[in-house]
Order: sequence, then structure tokens, then C-alpha cells
Amino acid sequence: MRPERDGERLRHVRRSIRHDAAERHVTGAAPYIDDIREPEGTLHVVPGGSPVAYGRLVRLDLAPVRAVPGVVTVLTADDIPGANDVSPVAGDDPLFAAETVSFHGQPLFAVVAESRDAARRAARLAVVEVEEAAPLVDVAEALAADADLMPAYSFRRGDPEAAIAASSYRVDGEMRIGGQEHFYLEGQAALVVPEEDGTFLIHSSTQHPSEVQHVVARVLGLPDAAVEVAVRRMGGGFGGKESQASGWAAMAALAARLTGRPAKIRLDRDDDFVMTGKRHDFLVGYSAGHDADGRLEAVAVQFAGRCGYSHDLSSSINDRTMFHADNAYFYPQVHIHSRRLKTHTVSNTAFRGFGGPQGMVFAERLMDRIAWVTGRDPLDVRYANLYGTDERNITPYGMTVEDNVAGEIMRQLEASSDYRARRERIAAFNAGSRFLKKGLALTPVKFGISFTTTFLNQAGALVHVYQDGSIHLNHGGTEMGQGLFIKVAQVVAEEFGVALDRVRITATHTGKVPNTSPTAASSGTDMNGMAARNAAAEIKGRIAEFIARDWQVPVASIKFRDDRVWCGEKSLVFAEVVKKAYLARTHLSAAGFYATPKITWDRPKATGRPFFYFAYGASCSEVTIDTLTGEFTLDRVDILHDAGRSLNPAIDIGQIEGGFVQGMGWLTMEELVFDAKGRLRTHAPSTYKIPTARDVPADFRVAFFDNPNREDTIYRSKAIGEPPLMLANSVFSAVADAVHALRPGRPVHLDAPATPEAILVACGKQTGEG
Ligand code: MTE
Ligand code: MOS
Repeated sequence: MRPERDGERLRHVRRSIRHDAAERHVTGAAPYIDDIREPEGTLHVVPGGSPVAYGRLVRLDLAPVRAVPGVVTVLTADDIPGANDVSPVAGDDPLFAAETVSFHGQPLFAVVAESRDAARRAARLAVVEVEEAAPLVDVAEALAADADLMPAYSFRRGDPEAAIAASSYRVDGEMRIGGQEHFYLEGQAALVVPEEDGTFLIHSSTQHPSEVQHVVARVLGLPDAAVEVAVRRMGGGFGGKESQASGWAAMAALAARLTGRPAKIRLDRDDDFVMTGKRHDFLVGYSAGHDADGRLEAVAVQFAGRCGYSHDLSSSINDRTMFHADNAYFYPQVHIHSRRLKTHTVSNTAFRGFGGPQGMVFAERLMDRIAWVTGRDPLDVRYANLYGTDERNITPYGMTVEDNVAGEIMRQLEASSDYRARRERIAAFNAGSRFLKKGLALTPVKFGISFTTTFLNQAGALVHVYQDGSIHLNHGGTEMGQGLFIKVAQVVAEEFGVALDRVRITATHTGKVPNTSPTAASSGTDMNGMAARNAAAEIKGRIAEFIARDWQVPVASIKFRDDRVWCGEKSLVFAEVVKKAYLARTHLSAAGFYATPKITWDRPKATGRPFFYFAYGASCSEVTIDTLTGEFTLDRVDILHDAGRSLNPAIDIGQIEGGFVQGMGWLTMEELVFDAKGRLRTHAPSTYKIPTARDVPADFRVAFFDNPNREDTIYRSKAIGEPPLMLANSVFSAVADAVHALRPGRPVHLDAPATPEAILVACGKQTGEG
């Protein structure tokens, strides 16, 4: 299809244009924090962590640390001129623990040395004594101890408990859903340069430059205006640098403040694993009532989430689990209950999907569970429960599902993936195969787009047009590999009607666009794209007014296209028009702003429209499990995903494939193991397995579902960053389907992640031999 707007062809948006830094990424020419040339005299900062999970700090002897040659100073809580708090919201994350230690590895001090090597060696020499107390580690333990970190929260409609009790068909179950380490390629890092008059310039690998600014100012006791934060790119963030980049920047800033020298921090991979938060793991308990066809009557579910020792973003994350506990399904009567538990482990944080994926895994388990007991195909149980029209389109939080296309996507995918025929072939294969069993699943995704913290749904941009017609583009969004910068540049080139290479992409900087929201909730392009378009449109309007006066023609007749400015047949190259406009004293710079419309959320009443719209998708996965070893192969994956009218199909396909593989890693490979003392035993790639290029399915068919956004988003595109992660649910369900084939009609007991060990245990339980 040819992209159209006002009858004119679009030149830059809706095209597959490669990532602006793709070549620099692969040739090593794209600087990450550790590649920035160090200013002379740069010091290196390495944190030292608590050797135990919980207790009272009784002695911290740093004399042996200070004695190491090259050590300049050692920082503790006593050195902080401002507040000892690097938390995003609640005020409960000390930069350095002072009296109580709350998790294994919690920073107690930081070594500042002439070399990184000296700092690392010295950090190990501290003498730490903690009066140990028994830690709460596991979520079940915390639940049993009623260790709620914050009040529980509920969505409720009707009287589901009574309806379930009265239902002729009832299912009850429990499952565990594991956490996930971000494993960004570039770990947490910051370089702090002291500038004139007690001010600081900070290069940070963060999704949230404004928060780094605010946290550093708070720790140093400075006004926000004394701190500038710049971010050209991250080597991945995935939510792990939304709130948890600021502490490390603050540590380096404290070193810079106390020594007057530039200071850099770059966490070791093991320290990054141990000292930074992860995806929340959950214990889910549920019961539901349904009819003979598997159509739900009522659902009651409790999510118990492990938040770790402090709030961080756990309130909104657990809320999002609740918002997505329905996935694409209508629960007529419903109670969604959320307990947020405190444990003596690292504070869990944002991770692609922000709690939503865990809610959706539950919804898909519920569908599978009903299929197993009714004997219906799981796909038909899913169809029977999809959101519909009239009475069947209201979510448990009172929002109407207006653009419900999940069913249409699933039907298209059912056909294109040849689901029914493969289902039959798989049944025949399983009948004839004793040890290898195949499984198939087709699952939908419906993901709400917007920050549920309403005020975060705002963005700013800054655009300058220089006298030679080159354009400087800046906005509040950060680049972490997702392709935000190129998409926004496409939007600006489209608006000015100029070649894309006129638009210079520049680093995110708190001095250019202030008060920004994190680049998160997949809303980077939606919001910054609009803000940048607004800025460009303003400058374009001023140029148009000038040239209309100059040419004595109506403003409305002026068009910007093909690197020229036009009135009918008359035209002049863009650069010359700009030069003329400058000489006529036209303002060629503008700040743009955007606030997402339509959204409302009343949390106490649990009602409103928290999301501007939903992004949809569906995936179909086929697996073969080896019931003797628990291993599986992912034989084929078909995906149909709704990116609205994709702004950049090449980038969006990358997000779909990458998100899917990351989700598959979460649900089938990546396992975080804390021991009884609260120590993370899986703190390096040697013990924590993430998917590699070899795990990408050999037969991987990804396509777009053509569906312009019904809301007025930037060129009718849809957010793409997080939703595809949840396409991996079909892999998890397909594995369960294969286990189910061992003894049909029995509910499968498979927790996430479905590691070979977990699959083997589930097989044993299925056959009754486990
Ligand atoms: N893609 C890459 N390559 N690297 C990342 O760190 N983060 C994801 C997603 N895709 C991420 C990524 C997460 S958690 C979010 S919220 C979005 O990108 C943020 O960017 P966007 O709002 O521009 O989509
Ligand atoms: Mo993404 S988890 O919203 O940073």
C-alpha cells in the first residue's frame, strides 16, 4: 500500500530506514559512557556491598581500603552533603546503607581511586560486621509473614466469589512466575565532570535524565539547575535504567564533589546483577467459574509480587500487572487482588512490560487450564472469552475496549499459520511418539499504552534551523537501541519536507528539554514524535509567513517538499529560503510540547481510562519437548503484530523479534536463584542463561497487522517497544500443551520459567510418576 496523507505521498515516515547509528554500533564508532574520552585526572568509583542480606551494621572499618596505593578517598553515608536518598518516589533507597542493611550486596561505601583496578582491589578489603537477622527472601515466605511493603489493592466487579461457588465448572490453581535480569549489554555507568561554580555535567546511561538530575541535586544538596545530564545512547535499558541509573550517577557525583575531579563509575557485571533490581517475580493463586464451553463466568485472582526491600516503582508495576490480568479476555465478574511484598532482596524495578507480562501469563494459563478440563482446543476457549461488544467490552477497571481487534488478528494468524491442520498433524505425531511430544499454542496480546501515572504523559522537544538549512533536533526521549531517534528524525524531515540527512540527531540533555518523563511505557515515539512535530510546525509556520510576504502570495499556498519551498510552480531550495528568512529576522528555533489527550485515572476508585489506546498482536508457537531430558526445541513461530501504521517497518520488525526473544528467555531459560540467606547465586552469564542468536527460531515468520491507530497518534502509528515481549506467551503455552499430551485431561503443573528442570518435573507430575 502506498502511504498517503492529504493526497500527497509521504517521503520519510512509514519507510524502512535503518537505525541512524547502526553502522557506528557495529563498527565500534558509537561511544557509550565508557568510551567517552576521560578528562584528565578522572577518578574511578567502585561500590562495596553488604556481605549479608539483613541486619544491623555494627562495624565498617575502611582503614585497609584507604591504605591501598592509588585510593584517593572512600565514600560513606557520612560524606553526603544533601539527602541519603536516591529513590524515585518513596524516599526509601539510601545511596549508602548506614544503620540497617536490607539486602545482600547493598552498597555501604564506595572506593574512589586513580585506577579502576585499584578501586576494585581495595573494595574487597573493607571489614564489615553486621548483626545478622533472619531475612525474608522468597515471596511465599513474605506472604506467610504478612510482610506487605504497601497496602494491597483491588479491582472488583460483581460478586465473583459467590459466582464461582455457584458455578457448575470450577478451576483452582496456583503458579509461580519468575523474575528476570535486564542484562543490558552496557551495564550501569556514569561520568561526572565538575564544572564552574559547583555545577556538574553528568554523562549517564539512563532512560530518565531528569531523574538523574533531580537525584544528584538532592544527594549533593544543590538546586536542580546546578546539574546537567546528557545521554547520547544506552547499550540497552529495558526498564533497568528507568529509576536505577540515578544512584550510580549520584555516587560518582559525590566523588567528583568531594575531590573536585571528574569521576566515573561502571559497574562490574556481577555487581550489576547483585546490586540492581529485576523484573518482579510472582506467586499467583486463582479460581474461576465457567460454563460447559469454557466461557468464563467469574474470576478471582491474587498476585503476590516480590518488591524487594524498597518501593522503587513497585506500586505502578504491580498496578500494571492488575491492568493486564485480563489480557484480551472479558471477565464478567471479577476480583483482581494485588499484594506487594517486602523482602530482604534487591529492590525490583521496571522491566519491559512493567508488570503487565506477569498478569498476561496468568490470563493465558487460565485459558489453558479451562481447555485441559473441558477438552476443547485452547484456541477455541480463547475465542470464547475475548472482549466483544456491548456488555462484554468493559475491563475490570472500567475502561471500554473500543478497538478490539484481538479476534481479527487471531483469526488471520490461525489461517496464515495453518493452525488447525498443524494441530491434527501434532496429535498424530504425539500418538506415535513416546518420548518426544509436540505442543502448539496461539495466544493474543493486548497492551495498554500510556503511563498509568497520568502526569508522566508529557514530552518536550527543541528544534533549531540553522542559516545553511541544517536542522538540530533534540527531545526528551532517550535512545537505547529501540530506534526512537531515527523515528523522530523521520517525523521532523517529513514536516519540513527536507532530506533526512539535513536533520542532525543530538544527545538528550536536561539543559535543552527540561522536566522530562522517562523513556518508558513504550511511549517514546508517541510523545516525543508529537512534541518534535509541534516544534517543527511552529518554525515552518514562521518561514511560510515570511516567504508568503516576500512572494506576495497567501500563506496557505506555501508548501514544503523535496527540499524546496513551493507556491504553485514557483519554488526555492529550502536552504536559500532559510537564509532569506534569517536575514529578514525570523525566529528559527522552537520548543515543542505534547500532552497525551483523553486519559484519566482515579486510583482510589479504580476507574477511568488509564490508556490512550491498546496495542495488539498474536503469536503461534510450535515446540517439541524431550520428556526424558526436559529440553525443548522451538520449531516454528508465526507472529502478526499491530504497530498501527508503522513509522519505520524495519525498526518495528526488530522490536518485535527482539521483544519476542527476550520474552522467550524470561519464560523458558532465565532463572534467578536466591539462596536461603538472600544471596543471588546466578550473578553472571556462567550461571544465568539468556537467549542467544542460536535460540532464535529457525522458522520465524513475522508480519504486521494492518490497522491504523484509531486515535490521533503520530502518523497513526502505535507504540512498539514492550508489547511484542508478551508474544512469547505462546511459547510457554505450547510447552504446557506438549506436557499435557503426555496425559490429556489432566491439568499441567508448569511454572515459569519452563527450564528443562521445570519441564521434567511437570512431565513427572503429568504421568503421575513425579
Ligand atoms: N529495544 C532495545 N533495543 N533496547 C532497549 O533497552 N527497551 C524497551 C523497548 N525496546 C529497549 C528496547 C522498553 S522497556 C521500552 S519501555 C521501550 O523500548 C522504550 O522506548 P520507546 O518508548 O521509544 O519504545
Ligand atoms: Mo520500559 S519497562 O517501560 O522502560
